[in-house]
Amino acid sequence: MPIERFEKVFIWISLLLLEVFFVAVLVVAFFGGIQLPEPGGLVDPQQLENTPPFDTPGVRQVGDREYEVAMIAQTWQFVPNEVRVPAGSTVTFYITSRDVIHGFMIPRTNANVMVIPGQVAKVTVQFDEPGEYSLICHEYCGIGHQGMFARIFVEPAEQAQAQGGEE
Ligand code: CUA
Repeated sequence: MPIERFEKVFIWISLLLLEVFFVAVLVVAFFGGIQLPEPGGLVDPQQLENTPPFDTPGVRQVGDREYEVAMIAQTWQFVPNEVRVPAGSTVTFYITSRDVIHGFMIPRTNANVMVIPGQVAKVTVQFDEPGEYSLICHEYCGIGHQGMFARIFVEPAEQAQAQGGEE
C-alpha cells in the first residue's frame, strides 16, 4: 500500500511527539519531584482526639531543617490553619479528614492530594523559597468549601534563627 509523502511526514511527527511527551513524563517524575503520594496509613475518624499524631495537630521539628505536620481537614477549615517553618525546610504533612472528603493543595509545590476520612495522606514538600504559601481545599466539600484554606509561612533562615527556632 503506497503512503503519501505528506502522510508519512505526519506519521513521523506524531511518533516524535509521543517520544517528547514520554520523556517529559520521565523528567518530571525523576527530576521534578512529581510523584504519587505515599499512603500514610489508616485512622478512625471518630477517634482523632486519641490517635497520635492527630491528638496534637501542629508542627514539630524532627531533625535539622526537617519538620512534620499533623493536620486535620474538617468542614470547613484546616487544623492548624497556620504553619511556620524556616526556608530550606523539608516538611512532611500527615493529613486526614474528620468528616467528608477534602482536598489538600499547595500551589507552586508538588503537594496535591485528596483527604479521605479514615485514610492518612502523606506528602513531603521542600520549601526553599521564603514567602507565604496558600494551602487550599480543592475538592468540593459543601457550602463553605471556597473559604477552606490555611497559610504556610516560610521564613527567611536568619529570621527563623533570631526567633530561637521557635516552632
Ligand atoms: Cu474542604 Cu473543599
